[in-house]
Amino acid sequence: MNIENLLEKTLTKPQYEAIKILGGQFHKKGTRAFLVGGTIRDLLLEREVSDIDIIVEADPWNLIHKFDPKYPLDMISNSQFNTCKIKILDQAVDLAMARKEIYPASGALPVVTSASIEDDLGRRDFSINALAACINPPNWGEVLDLYRGLEDLQLKHVRILHAGSFKDDPTRIFRCIRYSGRLGFSVEGDTKTQLLNDSTYLAQLSGVRITNELAKVFSEKNANSIFDLMDQFKVLGHIHSGFPKEPEFSERKSLLENIRIPTPEFVFYVLISLIEPNQRLDLIKRLDLGNKLSKFGTDLNRIERLEVNSSRSEIFKQLTEVSEIAISVAESYAPRELRSSLELFVNELKTISLCIGGEDLMAIGIPQGPKIGDILSKILTYMIDSGPQTKSGQIRMAKKFFSDS
Ligand code: CTP
Repeated sequence: MNIENLLEKTLTKPQYEAIKILGGQFHKKGTRAFLVGGTIRDLLLEREVSDIDIIVEADPWNLIHKFDPKYPLDMISNSQFNTCKIKILDQAVDLAMARKEIYPASGALPVVTSASIEDDLGRRDFSINALAACINPPNWGEVLDLYRGLEDLQLKHVRILHAGSFKDDPTRIFRCIRYSGRLGFSVEGDTKTQLLNDSTYLAQLSGVRITNELAKVFSEKNANSIFDLMDQFKVLGHIHSGFPKEPEFSERKSLLENIRIPTPEFVFYVLISLIEPNQRLDLIKRLDLGNKLSKFGTDLNRIERLEVNSSRSEIFKQLTEVSEIAISVAESYAPRELRSSLELFVNELKTISLCIGGEDLMAIGIPQGPKIGDILSKILTYMIDSGPQTKSGQIRMAKKFFSDS
């Protein structure tokens, strides 16, 4: 198959020109060069191509330094893994050397050696990502399809290349679900069986790798439906055993769908809210989510412990240190009574403050020390429960609390 016409039709003009130049230059340097991975997959699906990924059978960084100087290139970055990022005609392009990968253990990073394009396609996750199109001028647009990727694009399913794929790299479990959700593809039968069997390997992944994959899921346009797919494939249970059992989980999740999702970070808040309170800090530790999210988990537990019929000052005391984000997430699923308490806190109690401070108390003869804080807090509690007081009223109360103490 040759996709010469598709390249011209689907790529933007600058993308097309940039690829033409690179193909020509790599050819002159005697190496084969191919569009690969998501670039060719999206081209064949006639979707907009956002990233240009090119594989060459040599170290690309060495070669681009020998390119004809009439083509200005910006060298953006180079990594020790023989991959580099450049800009040509204002187009960012990822270049990589064709490689083979050996996984020393499930979930570990692979050991990489140089290889042919054929080997490189064989190390990939799914057949729809294991397609390549040559960009050397004599073979411009010729598709290399060693794993029936074209057929799978037609069949609209995601299929792994070999049975050990998920075990080698369990992040592929997230990737499989993400592509299925994004492209509206099914997961091919054997791949599905393998995915369900191999989900236990998710336990081998570091917290950071899981978090990265979840962040990618949550950056997708249809993150909610991908989240549902993760639920169907029972992936969340393998990340942490504390995710609530059905039907609570589905009920909560559908309530949370009403929240607009502005950032992937926000979804981690939602995820934490979906787990049993006594497991939250453990999940946060497992996923390496850091201090901000630990505080969020603690805050959520604090909110959920708020008793029905608490007094105004008890509500204030319980919520005063709690972050706004924890309150707004809890508001989305809290039962009616708790929601009223949260609204009362946000709209009214939080805005109540004293107009006197420690110096005012010292000025009326109360000695410096912990008593000052106690008295100020008692006045604030009184005002929260019984209504506002003028400055002189607050001073009068301070004198009374001091003499009673
Ligand atoms: N890849 C893989 N296994 C992984 C990650 C990546 O085999 N765990 C391969 C796939 O062939 C993939 C390519 O590396 O197509 C590039 O990876 P990435 O940029 O993550 O994916 P894209 O295919 O470009 O897809 P996306 O549109 O999500 O960026």
